[in-house]
Amino acid sequence: MLTLPPWLGRAEPELVRDYLDPAEEPRTRNFAAALERCVGAGRTIEVHDTHNSVSAIAGVEKLAWDSEHFGIGCARLAPVCVSPGLFAEQRLAAVAQIVDAAMAWCREHELSVLQRRVVGARGDEVRILEDRGFRLMDSIVTFTAQAKVAGEITSVRSVRTEDHTALLDIARDAFPHSRFLADPVFDPAKARAVYVRWLQTLLSGHASGDKSGAGGDVLVAEDAGKAVGFLSIRRDQNLEALTGRIVMPIEMIAVAGDKRGQGIGGRLLDAACSWAAQHGAELVEASTWTASMDIRKFYQRAGFVMRDVLFTLHGRVS
Ligand SMILES: CC(C)(COP(=O)(O)OP(=O)(O)OC[C@H]1O[C@@H](n2cnc3c(N)ncnc32)[C@H](O)[C@@H]1OP(=O)(O)O)[C@@H](O)C(=O)NCCC(=O)NCCS
Repeated sequence: MLTLPPWLGRAEPELVRDYLDPAEEPRTRNFAAALERCVGAGRTIEVHDTHNSVSAIAGVEKLAWDSEHFGIGCARLAPVCVSPGLFAEQRLAAVAQIVDAAMAWCREHELSVLQRRVVGARGDEVRILEDRGFRLMDSIVTFTAQAKVAGEITSVRSVRTEDHTALLDIARDAFPHSRFLADPVFDPAKARAVYVRWLQTLLSGHASGDKSGAGGDVLVAEDAGKAVGFLSIRRDQNLEALTGRIVMPIEMIAVAGDKRGQGIGGRLLDAACSWAAQHGAELVEASTWTASMDIRKFYQRAGFVMRDVLFTLHGRVS
């Protein structure tokens, strides 16, 4: 049984959804569950201060889905919970100790790639990771918009089984960035296939690895009776338990290459905001790569506002 530090729910920003300001109690539960999972699939790491109190606690775990898909041992360092109110230098020193211990654990377990995702508020920790050979693979911006019921949005409807092949074809080549495509250690064909596997999971309505299609819908845009774009949106019980609000994430959006720039993506976003409102949501969340100015403009034009950034780094374990 893990002993949790009393400050856990007030730890420094760490969660992808900390921008939604979750309360202390659900935040404690969220960290506790993630740390418990690491006891099973990895290890936890503690850092003590000069009075022998825990000043930071973290978890590292093997990523079974990624390891199986790429045939390369992959692990994740998360969460890294740091006591509130430490001086920046104390926090950076604690994180450095944690990263070193996590790398050592990966080495012992023959895992080659260690992933760490850093929230914008703790961007100064990137240099601790870079000092240890980590490289930035991905930078993501998160947006939200108010859910609101719109009038009928033409040519957008719920997915049907007969759409699946066309949608999987769109997903195969649509996405230009990802942490897997950016890291030369991963086979590019397998990196592109991640999006196809993800869409298959969303269409199935079930969970696979870290992804789930439960509680959601895939909205399809039609042009002359053909499926030419899709967007997936869903209810996420964990997110609701954490934030106490109904916030629905858009998981994927893509329009066929020859149909872009004609307003189809915009209609899908409007339909998503409407679907979310009809299902009781307050906010819709979307995230995309900071690298694409066009896609950022696309969300902003549809009324989405930027809330946070996330940096994903990969460390090579030798
Ligand atoms: C992002 C995307 C869904 C937008 O769909 P769309 O149907 O082209 O969007 P709209 O026509 O409603 O809006 C077009 C606006 O989106 C932006 N845009 C982004 N990528 C674009 C592209 N490849 N072609 C044209 N416009 C694009 C532009 O700002 C454009 O504005 P403009 O019309 O003033 O030039 C679509 O470009 C796409 O499928 N991209 C590849 C998949 C992807 O990157 N998904 C987002 C991952 S988070």
